[in-house]
This record gives sequence, C-alpha cells and structure tokens, in this order.
Amino acid sequence: MRLAGKTALITGAARGIGLEFARAYIAEGARVALADINEAAVRAAAEGLGPQAVPVVLDVTRQDSIDAGFAAAVAALGRLDILVNNAALFTAAPIVEITRADYDRLFAVNVAGTLFCLQAAARQMIAQGGGGTIINMASQAGRRGESLVGVYCATKAAVISLTQSAGLNLISHGINVNAIAPGVVDGEHWDGVDAFFAKYEGKVLGQKKREVGDAVPFGRMGTAADLTGMAIFLATPEAKYIVAQCFGVDGGNWMA
Ligand SMILES: NC(=O)c1ccc[n+]([C@@H]2O[C@H](COP(=O)([O-])OP(=O)(O)OC[C@H]3O[C@@H](n4cnc5c(N)ncnc54)[C@H](O)[C@@H]3O)[C@@H](O)[C@H]2O)c1
Repeated sequence: MRLAGKTALITGAARGIGLEFARAYIAEGARVALADINEAAVRAAAEGLGPQAVPVVLDVTRQDSIDAGFAAAVAALGRLDILVNNAALFTAAPIVEITRADYDRLFAVNVAGTLFCLQAAARQMIAQGGGGTIINMASQAGRRGESLVGVYCATKAAVISLTQSAGLNLISHGINVNAIAPGVVDGEHWDGVDAFFAKYEGKVLGQKKREVGDAVPFGRMGTAADLTGMAIFLATPEAKYIVAQCFGVDGGNWMA
C-alpha cells in the first residue's frame, strides 16, 4: 500500500498503459481518476476497477475540457497528488508524405495536451499545498529519430524537454516532474504501429511486432505491467530527490 491515501489523475486511461497504471495505483491504495476522450471505454474501464476508480471524460486538446475534467476529478477525489500525462497519438509516414493535419493532431495531443494538463495539475497542487508528482509518458522515440516516425519522435522529444523545464520550475513547490520512456509495449497501440509498418515496409501484419520483440535485449516486447514499478516508485516519497529526469523502462531496447 505504497500510495495509501493518495489521489491520481491519469490521462488516456481507458486502455493500455494508462489503464494498467490505474489498476496498479489502486492496488497500492490510491484513488484514481481515469481521464480519456473515449467516454464509453473510460466508463467501462473505471467500472471494471471498482469504487476507487472515477471516470472523467477529458479531451487533452481542449482547454475547457481540461479545466472541467480536472475540476471533476478534484471534486470526486478531494485533492490531486499525482498526474500521469499518458494520452498520446501515433502516426508514421515517410518525410515526403507527412501531412500538416497529422502534425497538428499529434502535437495537439502529445505536446500541448501534456503541457496544459501538467499546468492544470501544478496549479491544483500549488493551491492545495504539500507538493505532488507529475509523470510524463515519453518514449525511446523521443531520444532518437526514426526513419518513418518523424512526427511522433519529435513530439516525444518535446515531452522530454518539457519534463526538464517543468521539473526545474516546479520543484520549488515540492512537485516532482519526471518522465518514463518505454520501448516497445504490446497492446492495441502497437497493433496500430504494426499496421503502419506493414504498409510502408511491405510486411505482413504481426511481422514487425515479432521483429521488434526479438530485437529487445530482454528477449520480448514489454507489457504495460512491466512499467508499473517505475510509475509507482516515482509517486512515493523515496523518489522526492529525483527531478526532471527521463527513465528508460524498455528491456534494454534503446541502449541496444
Ligand atoms: N505502447 C508502446 O509501445 C509505447 C512505447 C513508448 C511510449 N508509449 C507511450 O505510452 C503512453 C500510453 O501508450 P499506450 O500504448 O497505452 O497507448 P494507447 O493508444 O493504447 O492509449 C492511448 C489512450 O489515449 C486516449 N486519447 C487519445 N487522444 C486523447 C485525447 N485527445 N484526450 C484524452 N485521451 C486521449 C485514447 O482514447 C487511449 O485510451 C503514450 O504516451 C505512448 O506514446 C507507448
């Protein structure tokens, strides 16, 4: 029960990594607002986790939705100790085929969404006092370019940069801002990634997944559950001297 009495808001929590984090935080004693743009899925996800889970319909690209969503979460939970900025979109295309619409869509969710949810959480944490924890979901993709993944990589590099600036700015309020950089994590997100590579690299569906899994030094793709240890640790008092960092949790993938 390392998070007993704590409250958290996790964006993009209707499925995948965000949902697994919500499950893990609740198992550690926290109450969690699951925030997602997909209303039906987030309601079902919260219901599945029981009374410690609160569904919040929130579009991270709209300021009115962020304001209303954070207010609803604080009303339901009483305060906000932890934010996980997890919602994100992925796309892939050769540089000459990138569209401005895709660029705008990804930066709106992955970068502006992260910044303005972080801002909303920081304002709440400063007002209530006692500090807090903010975890941004970055990616190994933010640490290097990838031939077909220019826009997504750029958004995740921006998330790492925002983590550094916000970490330095907010630690004077006792708010620790750090990031987690996963490698390749199996789930619906990677089903979509696999389909992009099938299209651009002429692979059959499922082939890219097998290839990237085999290439991970640990020996397989990650699972959302592989990431929960870091997400819990960063929200505990043991992590209070950790500021503005980005931690790879990737089975050695980026290093390789
Ligand atoms: N899966 C991986 O291999 C991997 C690797 C590195 C980093 N990451 C990062 O981890 C995080 C979670 O990844 P995942 O695999 O669980 O993704 P996912 O696609 O399974 O889930 C993303 C969630 O975000 C929600 N969302 C999308 N747009 C939104 C918006 N405008 N407002 C609110 N919610 C919105 C979706 O409805 C969905 O529930 C993301 O930041 C992703 O970039 C994932």
